[in-house]
Amino acid sequence: MRRFLIGGNWKMQVLTVDDAEKKAQTIASTIENIKRVEVFIAPPFNSLFNVKQIIAKTKLRIAGQNMHYIEQGAFTGQISVLSLLDAGCNYVILGHSEPRRIFGESNQTINLKVLKALQHGLKVVLCIGETAKEREEGLTREINSSQLSECLFGVSDEELKKIIIAYEPVWAINNPYLNPGIEIKPATPTQAASAHKMIRDWIRKEFGNPIGEWIRIIYGGSMSQSNARELLEITDIDGGLIGGASLTAESFTPIIQIAEELSKDIEELR
Ligand code: 13P
Repeated sequence: MRRFLIGGNWKMQVLTVDDAEKKAQTIASTIENIKRVEVFIAPPFNSLFNVKQIIAKTKLRIAGQNMHYIEQGAFTGQISVLSLLDAGCNYVILGHSEPRRIFGESNQTINLKVLKALQHGLKVVLCIGETAKEREEGLTREINSSQLSECLFGVSDEELKKIIIAYEPVWAINNPYLNPGIEIKPATPTQAASAHKMIRDWIRKEFGNPIGEWIRIIYGGSMSQSNARELLEITDIDGGLIGGASLTAESFTPIIQIAEELSKDIEELR
């Protein structure tokens, strides 16, 4: 069975290094007994290094929230893959709907970033997902497939094993800037199951069955303690990318515990 991966995306919600350190420390200490689930947090860039020091001897891992596709140069406001590695990141989140839909990041740019991260051995959490309007217009399959094919352009079978796909339907992300005037709600288990199956089928078709079975596809969008079980029970859902509920151990750790419980009887985990 695929090992569950639970990631906490802190976005721009944690403003000081001190606060990030405290939150990371509490989360790390509440997951000490977690054996079967991989867990990371993605703090804002300013606190990555300090957070890494705090959690160095724990099971918690850290991720960058984005990066540039060029290693070094005159790129105001950007961060290099080399800086993420220097800070101790194990993963980088790429293609999140916020940089895509608010700051106009394209599939082509994301593709360059994916290739750069892989070149440096950084694991990629590649986010994809359709807006409410695209779903209403019946474009869910088309949008997700084109995001996959354009963002994964030039990625080899071996490299794909370093990628985790995060299906984050934009309409389910608890962010009014992304969803103005829309009632934000999590995907139902039926909606999530069908999207995840579609994504896995796409990977199977393009990269072959073994990789399709191997790859982890995690869900993001208003995931919380109250809906985590019904989502994580779905065969094609291999974890969660959690925003708001990852900001305190109180709301984050129960989700990780649910994932641990769901994998407790499984003998072999990759
Ligand atoms: P919420 O869990 O706050 O909806 O955010 C999801 C997300 O965007 C994670 O990357």
